[in-house]
Order: sequence, then structure tokens, then C-alpha cells
Amino acid sequence: MIMPADFQVSEPAVAPQGRFVVLEGIDGCGKSTQIEALRRWLPTSGLLATGAELLVTREPGGTALGAALRQLLLHPPGEAAPEPMAELLLYAADRAQHVEQCIRPALAAGHWVLSDRYSGSTAAYQGYGRGLDLAHIAQLEQLATGGLAPDLTLWLELPLAESLRRRGERSADRIEASGEAFLQRVIDGFAELAAGQGWRRVDATGAPEQVAAACCGLLAELAAGSPP
Ligand code: TYD
Repeated sequence: MIMPADFQVSEPAVAPQGRFVVLEGIDGCGKSTQIEALRRWLPTSGLLATGAELLVTREPGGTALGAALRQLLLHPPGEAAPEPMAELLLYAADRAQHVEQCIRPALAAGHWVLSDRYSGSTAAYQGYGRGLDLAHIAQLEQLATGGLAPDLTLWLELPLAESLRRRGERSADRIEASGEAFLQRVIDGFAELAAGQGWRRVDATGAPEQVAAACCGLLAELAAGSPP
């Protein structure tokens, strides 16, 4: 078929830009509760572009490989507990798989991704907590994620005493069981990271509904601030 001389093939429709949102915080800060609240609210919020969906995921364990790594990291059998450097590399492996298999494809298709933890946890727990070199961690993160950074990180801030009170009798995983001094370093690390990297701080001591309202407001700001 002969086309008129000025016929132009139109560009393929550009997929709406997805949004990558991460929740960070120590044990007991209410991340799981807030993730569930956002899972219900976001799809009905009007913030997602037409056709966009919400992928809710987590680290470690957002992929099949990640689920196996999560078990090794948090509940290692016998003598298998990783040393700090091995621990760092296992979290990085979990993240590399997660980015490649889940996060990037979802964002490329214009979807929103809501992740329970991401690189900030590695900097806080393995960097500030374990004392591994932060510059090395940043290099490793670059390798593992290919530079993929969240559009928004919400830090649910909770003091150590409240975290311990909320845990109560529930048994800690291997990381949580690393002691109170370790957990305080993690909290201090989160505070520094939040200040230095533009994370949004949410007071997690309030009632779940109050915390949820704050999170929803920040997501609405994100959607309004950078339209697709
Ligand atoms: P989490 O999924 O919050 O546990 P739960 O399901 O009990 O709420 O966290 C898993 C643990 O892994 C937590 O103690 C923090 C730790 N962690 C790191 O030390 N580094 C990391 O990079 C990540 C993602 C998690």
C-alpha cells in the first residue's frame, strides 16, 4: 500500500510512569500494618494513572530466590549463620533479583511498586548496625540495583523502647536478636539517612489510623508533585 508522502508513523504510546515507594523502619514500627492499609487505599485513591496497578512486595523475599535467601538470613539452620560481609552480600543478591524480576518490569509497565524495605535497610542494618563500610555498601547497591532509587522513602520512626515494648514476648529473628545497642545504631542510622537522602519521616508512635493518614498524604504529594 502506498502512503502519502507526508505520512508519519506515530510514536508508540508512552507508558505512564510508574512510582516506586519504599517503607523503612525498625521492627514494630508498623510497616506491615501500613503496607496493608496502603494496599487497600492506593488502588481506589485516584492517584494511579488509568490502567496502572499496584505491586506490593518486600525485602528480603520478594522473589522465589529471595524467599530462600530470607530463610537463610533470618532463620539459618545449624552453623549457617552468615558473617556480616556474607550477610551484606546475601541482602544484595536478594535485591538484585528483586529489582530485575519484579521492580523494574512493574515500573516500566507504568505500575506503582510499594516495597517493605529496600537499600535503606542495608545501609542502616549492615552499615550503621554491623559497622560495615558505608562507601562499599553504596558501591554494592549501585551494582545490585543498577542505580534504581525509590521515588519516595517513608521512614516510620519509632524509639527503641517502644519497639521492644511492642515486640513483647514474640521471638526476634536473627537480625532483631543482635542486641539493643545494635538496634539503637540502626535507628540512629535511619535518622541520618532520612536527613541526608530526603526521606519523609513519619511518627510511628501514633495510632495506626493516624500513621496511615500521614502516609497517604505523602503519597498524594508524590503523585501531585511529579505528574506522569
Ligand atoms: P522484616 O521483613 O521487617 O521482618 P518481619 O517480617 O518480621 O517484619 O525484616 C527482615 C529483617 O531483615 C529485619 O530484621 C531487617 C533485616 N534487613 C537487613 O538487615 N538488611 C536489609 O537490607 C534488609 C532488606 C532487611
